[in-house]
Amino acid sequence: MNWARLIRTALAARERAYAPYSSFRVGAALLARSGEVYVGSNVENASYGLCICAERVAVTKAVTAGEKGFLALAVATQSSPPSPCCGMCLQTLVEFADELPIVLINPDGGRVDTALQTLFPASFTRRLLES
Ligand code: THU
Repeated sequence: MNWARLIRTALAARERAYAPYSSFRVGAALLARSGEVYVGSNVENASYGLCICAERVAVTKAVTAGEKGFLALAVATQSSPPSPCCGMCLQTLVEFADELPIVLINPDGGRVDTALQTLFPASFTRRLLES
């Protein structure tokens, strides 16, 4: 796993956030099973409910490019310690990855190594729809 590359990519994506309302800039870099890395940044809107998180931008870009599985995620915020993903993003991610190592970082070198199962242990998945 090339975490250094994923971390650099997430930090660069954070620079491209459109966050004029919250000023909370987020960047995500998602490594897909194909080896391709998909980036996302948060994109806000004057109609606040339309704001979309960096992670979900990355997931939707990947899925619409034909990806169905993910291997790793790096998320860059300005928080110290680095902030975890919100619940909506965790639910979106668990649709495509049972196990996903996640690194949370900030531009000051802060780093938390975690995983989707740790951040979102009791998740609602499509398997429950089949039972
Ligand atoms: N945000 C993300 O991009 N990812 C998260 O997991 C949490 C929150 C964004 C949404 C909004 O633009 C800003 O951060 C403040 O909530």
